[in-house]
Amino acid sequence: MTPDEFRAAAHVLVDWVADHRERVATLPVAAQVAPGEVARGLAPHAPEEPEPLADVLADLERVVVPGITQTQSPNFFGWFPSNAAPASVLGDLASSGLAALGITWASAPALTEVEEVVTEWLRELTGLPAGWRGAIHDTASTACLVALLAARERASGLSQNRGGLQGEPAPLVVYTSPQAHSSVAKAALLAGFGAANLRAVDVDPVTRAMLPDALAAALAEDVAAGRRPAAVVVAVGTTGTTAIDPLAELAPIAARYGAWVHVDAAMAGSALLLPERRWMIDGIEGADSLCWNPHKWMGTILDCSLLYVREADELVRVMSTDPSYLRSAVDGEVTQYRDWGIPLGRRFRSLKLWFHLRLDGVEAIRARLRRDLANAAWFAAQVEAEPDWRVLAPVTLQTVCVRHEPAGLADPGAGPGAGPGAGPGAGDALDRHTLAWASAVNDSGLAFVTPSQLDGRWLVRVSIGAEATEHEHVARLWDLLRATAGAAVASSSAAASSVASATA
Ligand SMILES: Cc1ncc(COP(=O)(O)O)c(C=O)c1O
Repeated sequence: MTPDEFRAAAHVLVDWVADHRERVATLPVAAQVAPGEVARGLAPHAPEEPEPLADVLADLERVVVPGITQTQSPNFFGWFPSNAAPASVLGDLASSGLAALGITWASAPALTEVEEVVTEWLRELTGLPAGWRGAIHDTASTACLVALLAARERASGLSQNRGGLQGEPAPLVVYTSPQAHSSVAKAALLAGFGAANLRAVDVDPVTRAMLPDALAAALAEDVAAGRRPAAVVVAVGTTGTTAIDPLAELAPIAARYGAWVHVDAAMAGSALLLPERRWMIDGIEGADSLCWNPHKWMGTILDCSLLYVREADELVRVMSTDPSYLRSAVDGEVTQYRDWGIPLGRRFRSLKLWFHLRLDGVEAIRARLRRDLANAAWFAAQVEAEPDWRVLAPVTLQTVCVRHEPAGLADPGAGPGAGPGAGPGAGDALDRHTLAWASAVNDSGLAFVTPSQLDGRWLVRVSIGAEATEHEHVARLWDLLRATAGAAVASSSAAASSVASATA
């Protein structure tokens, strides 16, 4: 493709993308395909001859669009906001167009230095301590792995330079909340700690936040048994209910044992742009690292996860490589981001942040975050006020965990099996009802929500914060939830009475 051909094709594609964003609210929100359907819609072999762009776009429309959940729809309330602000899409395009190769500072000095400047902007904007430095990773999962690798090496006095963990006399232990994201346990396992050395520290039954006393007890017990605490992963905004672990109380406890404190604020970190939400990371001076994803609620297109560290040297001494073909005369003076993480080759990811912040401006992003917090508070208040509906966890941010508990389906209490006042199997019947109405909502294509378990029972998470979601969409969602859950009750009692009359 020549530059002129590229120009012509790119104009067509950009128009297609803009049209797609314009009509996304009218599309079914959930992906509309069965397993294998997308693959069957594609040619079984690669074309030998070039095809016209129009044919590719026709297949994009026919096969690909129905094969994705429309996270940019204002009616998307699933998992977490996965926003992709158009301004950031432009930055991503600039990054692809420039095609810089980030393997060393010298291979693309701008790639390193724009990242340094933009991560510094965001450090300041989120109230992280001066001197902390950031790098962009693909995901919070990778960032957590990087933090735990550094923690492992700190606790073991750089065991990688000896026999690794296999040569260590005492097991190293990682502590986190049972509400932490699955990526935390995954990172601990990948970093070699072993499942037997991963502790799920008790949480408060109401707030679901980690209990400092329970952390202190777990640490003391391990130390008494000859094990060495290596890391505490503190969740600021858990995935299930956005619980906020009390960092200011937890960090000093971890410090008694020299354990690394990593703060996982993957989703909630966007809210740190709001000065009134900075309390969420009170005590951050006592932590070693913090990760958050602008590619979630803030809206810089995937993949854009920030890992900040108090002391970058703790990463460098674990991850630096120095092959002769990557050396240059300025090595001692510049940042080599390859030494701050796992990959050698890095994309110019900072451009999407740079474009996003410059073209949208921080104040507009803050206004959107505040809008979402207000919408979540409004929605929670409607649910609380409605008979037969419950909000099941404190609403700390923009996620509201709800359940419809109609008469006849008693409150099951916690855990599998029926709680006080519930008949035998009432919890299971309530679970079936929750799953039935949640999938009816998603099947309708009108909105998308996520069923999730808490204390062994199903509930529905309503995660508010798609860029296009205004109050009217949240109000319509509430109407849809009530109508769908009501219809599910009606159809299951109709089914029950027809079974009863058939067996009478
Ligand atoms: C609290 C938390 N941590 C980590 C992750 C993992 O994020 P990523 O997809 O960037 O690895 C998530 C994703 O939802 C999350 O909510």
